[in-house]
Amino acid sequence: MKNRINRVALIGTGFVGSSYAFALLNQGVVEELVLIDLNKEKAEGDAMDLNHGLPFSPSPTKIWFGDYSDCKDADLVVITAGANQKPGETRLDLVEKNTRIFKGIVGEVMASGFDGIFIVATNPVDILTYAVWKFSGLPKERVIGSGTILDTARFRFLLGDYFNVDTRNVHAYIIGEHGDTELPVWSHADIAGRPISDWVQKEANYKQEDLDDLFLNVRDAAYHIIQRKGATYYGIAMGLIRLTKAILQNENSVLTVSTYLDGEYGQKDVFIGVPAVVNRSGIREIVELSLSEEEKQKFNHSVEVLKKTMEPVIN
Ligand code: 2OP
Repeated sequence: MKNRINRVALIGTGFVGSSYAFALLNQGVVEELVLIDLNKEKAEGDAMDLNHGLPFSPSPTKIWFGDYSDCKDADLVVITAGANQKPGETRLDLVEKNTRIFKGIVGEVMASGFDGIFIVATNPVDILTYAVWKFSGLPKERVIGSGTILDTARFRFLLGDYFNVDTRNVHAYIIGEHGDTELPVWSHADIAGRPISDWVQKEANYKQEDLDDLFLNVRDAAYHIIQRKGATYYGIAMGLIRLTKAILQNENSVLTVSTYLDGEYGQKDVFIGVPAVVNRSGIREIVELSLSEEEKQKFNHSVEVLKKTMEPVIN
């Protein structure tokens, strides 16, 4: 992998992609950002628009509208392209269509000579991350899905709000499919080291039923937003920035990303959201939490659903 200047190639400048590009520029994360989209006019327009913000950006960034050949020297290819959910559709409903689109995209990226790290955000993200790994032939450590990074953020936000504590002091994960079968890891959820179960048992203000509802709000958040404004993009864009920084700045940060299990959590041959240490080489290692029996069952169910859905489309 080359390492002169950090280049991100973004494929897909729809709502999620363009929000990601905007956040990237605002946070001054990369030196080069190339925008690629089937809709060339949109990508070109975005490049122009973003360039006009450069004088207000914290650091210089070269932004242009390009094509797949620009992926050759990219450190990261971030894919946000594909169809998104209509109101009432689940993420898994998109599987066939987006797998087909991804075959084309990944073929083009690899034909450029790309040898970096893929980040995948399109839904169903766990299955499409698996598809990118298969189609690209890259090592599993270098293909990373956004997984439950956003769900974990939603969870931490709502817990922080409920307990009236800064979200950054809430340590709690959502794992599993980024979708309807995801689960909260209550057994390892704490605020500043104090288990959430302890707050609930010892303080009358806090109730288990509220926490159960809170998780449902996390799980169904995308439906609630899509119903209101047609799509979700700011939250995921910021999650993708967090992941981009963890990689490019070699942070060794623990993030709940979609990664390949090869025996961890008792599962194999699936990409799914679990906490993992992320750095410049991609996934350094998976953090294996000792789950409660109930959590294990739910996690295994989530794996089963993903495998069943992807079987007919990926071989
Ligand atoms: C989200 O969770 C739709 O996957 C997208 O916001």
